[in-house]
Amino acid sequence: AAQAAAETKLSSAGSTIVLGHVGSLTGNEATFGQSSDRGFKLAIDEQNTKGGIKGKKIELKTLDDQGKPEEAAVAAIRLATQDHVSVIFGEVASTRSLAMAPVAESNHIPMITHMSTNPKVTKDGDKTRQYVFRTCFIDPFQGTVMAKFTRENLKIDKVAILRDVGSDYSVGLAQFFTGTYKNLGGAIVAEQSYKSGDQDFKAQLTAIKGKNPDAIYVPGYYTEVALIARQARELGLKQPLLGGDGWPSDKLFEIAKGALDGSYYSGHYSEENPAPVVQEFVAKYKTAYGTVPDAWATLAYDTARLTVSALERAKELTGPAIRDALEQTKDFTGVTGAIAFDADHNPIKPAAVLGIEKNKSKFASTVNP
Ligand code: PHE
Repeated sequence: AAQAAAETKLSSAGSTIVLGHVGSLTGNEATFGQSSDRGFKLAIDEQNTKGGIKGKKIELKTLDDQGKPEEAAVAAIRLATQDHVSVIFGEVASTRSLAMAPVAESNHIPMITHMSTNPKVTKDGDKTRQYVFRTCFIDPFQGTVMAKFTRENLKIDKVAILRDVGSDYSVGLAQFFTGTYKNLGGAIVAEQSYKSGDQDFKAQLTAIKGKNPDAIYVPGYYTEVALIARQARELGLKQPLLGGDGWPSDKLFEIAKGALDGSYYSGHYSEENPAPVVQEFVAKYKTAYGTVPDAWATLAYDTARLTVSALERAKELTGPAIRDALEQTKDFTGVTGAIAFDADHNPIKPAAVLGIEKNKSKFASTVNP
């Protein structure tokens, strides 16, 4: 009975469908939440122009979590129990999505993260979470892609690892990279740690220097990565840095000031990809916001469009019916690739490897699953 009560209270009972977004609009990772919100809004505005869904207008309710997991959980509870949203979008960071996922589960409200790549977000132990989905690839794939690229393309034998021990994302990615890299015959010669917010990495970098690796894998977020790159160069470390989808941001280049030239990372998307679906989106986004869309905005846009398609197909606008429609998504064409979900609610889609030259990203290659 409790479940039925929760399900009839969805906002969709009225004349609007309310969708929620939990994001970091302020704090160290403010660009994550702000760009994401622009992407969600663009897709929703487009759909409202076409008449909304089932005759109802769509509204986006965004709550700021300031980049804190506790706040992300509180925001998700509020969206589920007070605003009665139909779907919750977010978060970007796996640590914060992990704080929200149990809320979505217990309230039977579908949650879709567009950027959290840690496997645990959609899978609790060996149990798939019924109401949690994601539209980005996962870290075992991303880690494997970079390990292969490092071993096979860069022909590198010895790698040092420097990871953020407070981040589920960073720890997971380091682990998945290590597994594949060792299987391919590479050696991990040093493992060092930091915590988000740290500013001085000299002790760790000095220890790494002593082991003389050919490259340093730094699966972190851009602020720390850029500082690490600069301090590495100051200490005379000339090796390329390697990373993942937490790197690309205007801020990365602003802070790094060229220190990342010669480095490589795995990512979701490149605005240089000449595919028409990408270029049409880039043009639309520029018209709306005056800037080129970044990966957060692009995945948010895909996620909101995929949600619209599920809401249109849902037998009724209840949590369980929307969940079923999401699960039945087939051949959805996103800007970041085609999306269908596997048994664990993860999409099967390609990753991009990008290189950095003259303090700018350059599209290197697309790697298929
Ligand atoms: N993939 C990261 C995570 O799961 C989030 C992230 C994506 C951060 C892209 C920055 C850029 O935590």
